[in-house]
Amino acid sequence: MPTFRSLDDADVKGKRVLVRVDLNVPMQDGKVADSTRIEEVVPTIAELAEKGGKIILLSHFDRPKGRDPKYSLRPVAAEVARLVKRPVAFADDCIGPKAETAVAALKNGDIVCLENTRFHPSEEKNDKEFAKQLAALGDIFVNDAFSAAHREHASTTTIVSASKLLAYPGRAMKAELDALERAFDRPKHPVTAIVGGAKVSTKLELLGHLLTKVETLVIGGAMANTFLVAQGKRVGKSLFESDLIGAAADIVSRAHALGREIVLPVDAVVASQLVTHAPSRVVSVDQVGVEDMILDIGPRTIEHVVSVLARTKTLVWNGPFGAFEHEPFDNGTIEVAEAAAELTAAGKLVSFAGGGDTVAALNLASVKERMTHVSTGGGAFLESLEGKTLPGVKVLLAPQQTKATGR
Ligand code: 3PG
Ligand code: MG
Repeated sequence: MPTFRSLDDADVKGKRVLVRVDLNVPMQDGKVADSTRIEEVVPTIAELAEKGGKIILLSHFDRPKGRDPKYSLRPVAAEVARLVKRPVAFADDCIGPKAETAVAALKNGDIVCLENTRFHPSEEKNDKEFAKQLAALGDIFVNDAFSAAHREHASTTTIVSASKLLAYPGRAMKAELDALERAFDRPKHPVTAIVGGAKVSTKLELLGHLLTKVETLVIGGAMANTFLVAQGKRVGKSLFESDLIGAAADIVSRAHALGREIVLPVDAVVASQLVTHAPSRVVSVDQVGVEDMILDIGPRTIEHVVSVLARTKTLVWNGPFGAFEHEPFDNGTIEVAEAAAELTAAGKLVSFAGGGDTVAALNLASVKERMTHVSTGGGAFLESLEGKTLPGVKVLLAPQQTKATGR
């Protein structure tokens, strides 16, 4: 069982605490458009400040090619200050004299946010010298950026492995890891996974791993079309991946061999084009016309999925059922989300969800608060669901602790 240091035991008073956060948030007109990721890390930042640490926030933002003011973290730092209800200073660089001066000016409980780590190509190249320069700014490392932990970058991995910094998961990171453990290492059975989204190709590994972990696998979204084609059904103009029909058939036969249940749509909402409020109708999956596009699951499928949830104890959900950005094709996702939230609120289901689109869909359905855990991770959540230990998590694990403490 992997173990981590606990922030409960961290002696942070007067120490320079490097806190890796994921401030890669959506922006609109120069302002933070969705502060979910910031809200998630506020408790860690506030706690460390409360305990008298000197807080140094480290983060990437978007994917700049070198230094570019368009990708500055400055406006994001202002939003952090607003949410953490403390002043947050800003340094124009994450290494070198500007960073050093800003860090040297910190008093106990102060916070500084350093500029976008990706302004240095060395960050993504995972350059050891750059990582050491970052590490030299602090005495302790806290990683609260689960959503960036699948990246093997200087500020997520080598900052620990190339330094003597004691590394701790932050509170949000720990909550993500605990939720994954609860879902996969010691779940209450039966376990159901819902996997949706557009492409089988991006989720093959995920489906393969989930088959070994769950009793029931529900497949939704456009990727379900590829499975329907593999069953010999016609999907008209619907999206599907012709080169993955064999892979889909293979997943179904492996599921049968393992005694797992695969749930595919039995009916669909179809339209002739993907636009909001396009005229649509419900058809059986055996009756999709040549001009039809499958844009959502139909009522019989919804009913079936809800009945599966009613006998499920643990749910893992990644990917929406339909083209949820366009009404009314959000209906299937919303109905299933509502059912999952109700069962969870009634104490009958432990529900975990994650992935960018999934979280957007759950927000739309106003169920996020009623789910057991909603991950901030997109790629990081997906890779975790594939059974991988993320590189940014690996460096927080006990073997490194053993070495660092000399035990
Ligand atoms: C994300 O938004 O998923 C993380 O911040 C990672 O960003 P990246 O995909 O640009 O590495
Ligand atoms: Mg919750």
